[in-house]
Amino acid sequence: MRFQVTTFFKVLGVGTFLLIFCIALQAGPAPDGGGDLFKQKCAMCHGADGKGYPALKTPDFTDPKVQASLTDEELTKTIKNGKTGTAMPPFKDSLSDDQVKSLVKYIRSLKK
Ligand code: HEC
Repeated sequence: MRFQVTTFFKVLGVGTFLLIFCIALQAGPAPDGGGDLFKQKCAMCHGADGKGYPALKTPDFTDPKVQASLTDEELTKTIKNGKTGTAMPPFKDSLSDDQVKSLVKYIRSLKK
């Protein structure tokens, strides 16, 4: 009887541990508005304010003309696949779809 009770609690303990582990995995990195991500991954080439650097030929994301010339699909594609022939690197292996989506949203919010 005693044996069964301890086994029961052991199983319960492992189960609880697995459950918490799964929840933690699902949650993943804390979601942010894209701003923190932009500062971490993009600001070194695009500037913390998204204005870009002429020397690097990065576009000024605050310019309404630049914004109007790019669709959401183009932004998403460029962030995922990079731009061949330019310094813009692909991020499809290092960013999730949700992260790319929040970056597109963030870039849109930079428009003056
Ligand atoms: C190593 C430097 C570098 C990094 C890091 C970088 N970019 Fe770029 N990015 C560029 C350059 C250079 C261009 C301009 C390409 C060109 O000449 O059209 C560019 C262009 C773009 C464009 C415009 C594409 C177009 O079609 O005009 C978007 C959108 C963009 N980057 C988003 C991002 C985002 C989001 C990140 C971070 C996840 C990022 N970039 C990180 C260098 C970089």
